[in-house]
Amino acid sequence: MYLHGTSTINNKNHLEIGGVDTVHITREFGTPVYVYDVALIRERAIGFKKAFEEAGINHQVAYASKAFSCIAMFQLADELGLSLDVVSSGELMTAKKANFPMERVHFHGNNKSPEEIDFALDLGIGCIVLDNFYELSLLQEKIAFRQQTMDVLIRTTPGVEAHTHEYISTGQEDSKFGFDLSSGQADQAIEIIQADRYLYLRGVHSHIGSQIFDTDGFVLTVEKLFKEFQRWKELYDFVPEVFNAGGGFGIRYVEGDEPLPPEQYVKDLIAAIKREAENTGMNVPEIWIEPGRSITGDAGTTLYTVGSKKDIPGVRRYLSVDGGMTDNIRPALYQAEYEGILANRANDETNETFSVAGKCCESGDMLIWNLALPEVEFQDVLAVFCTGAYGYSMANNYNRVARPPVVFVENGESSLVVQAETLEDLLKNDLPLHTNEKV
Ligand code: LLP
Repeated sequence: MYLHGTSTINNKNHLEIGGVDTVHITREFGTPVYVYDVALIRERAIGFKKAFEEAGINHQVAYASKAFSCIAMFQLADELGLSLDVVSSGELMTAKKANFPMERVHFHGNNKSPEEIDFALDLGIGCIVLDNFYELSLLQEKIAFRQQTMDVLIRTTPGVEAHTHEYISTGQEDSKFGFDLSSGQADQAIEIIQADRYLYLRGVHSHIGSQIFDTDGFVLTVEKLFKEFQRWKELYDFVPEVFNAGGGFGIRYVEGDEPLPPEQYVKDLIAAIKREAENTGMNVPEIWIEPGRSITGDAGTTLYTVGSKKDIPGVRRYLSVDGGMTDNIRPALYQAEYEGILANRANDETNETFSVAGKCCESGDMLIWNLALPEVEFQDVLAVFCTGAYGYSMANNYNRVARPPVVFVENGESSLVVQAETLEDLLKNDLPLHTNEKV
């Protein structure tokens, strides 16, 4: 059994996270419930920052908040000195409510709406990562009208494909994201931005995919981009001050996943950038990264209560839990794999094999195929590990299932940071059929 972060098994044979007995958590907050190991989040954030500090590199580690966002997480990110990558008004609003320092907020997205751009400008965020010509002209219009300046990066598609699931690779040329390098789109964007008195082009961004286990793709991207930098220097006298390498650093979900230690991604990236800077006679730029999954992924565990079981002799044993694709859509969407244990009988011998089903009306609503467990009983607590990234943030209300609460644990204390959605919450936007009829 692989336990992440501060997880241990206590003398009651229960899974404990952050010094808190998970069975107690289920009694206090119900199930399903997302539990975050705050010490592990801290360790990850500090690890990334330390790798830059030790190398003496100016940097920003921007937490990709799409992985998991809520006010408490943004406050924690601030405490840890992280910056924030946001992609919507909702994430901007969360940053505002968390009192996150706006100068450390970077706004991403391939279709930022006029309202979202206005909101970002009103908040005075630090930087907009431009994705396409449409939003470039929208932004130009708005800042000219407001006479407000704005720092921007251009997102490029370097034509590097990281070895990862098809849906989550974004660095290849055939991508909805970013300015293409090979067809000259990035060049054109630079010309437009340089001619704009309110825009300041700080540098370039690239993000080559997610759940990446080696650094080859990052190194290749650095090499490709420095070739462009040389050209841009000659053509436009443009030398990027910032190299933003995006996120995508992999984590261990299941046995066989072998990511690098988080800091190693940074070390290899720094080495490649330093080498290319030297080869091209350029200064080493500020380096920004945007880890999401590698900050919160394995810090999250979801606790469920076991309900029904179905044995199909000689075929499969199903057990169903009180959540599923509504709180974790990744298995259904990406065939993502997870490990889990019985939190209330953590060290019991695992001599049975079950397939863990969710409760939604859909055969694809499976959380784990073939999980070794003890003989499971009604009301046992199942802990599924590594659900901290893209679990809560992709949760949904299919079948009108309410979204679970989120609990942070650290040093023996638990604190509720997102309340459970209630049935009233679910219905709050519904209006009756004849709303417009006069009564
Ligand atoms: N920066 C940019 C521009 C991104 O598009 C992403 C992720 C990140 C950073 C953070 O990547 P991370 O470090 O978390 O891998 N829903 C999918 C993942 C989609 C990732 C989208 N972009 C999943 O559940 O695997």
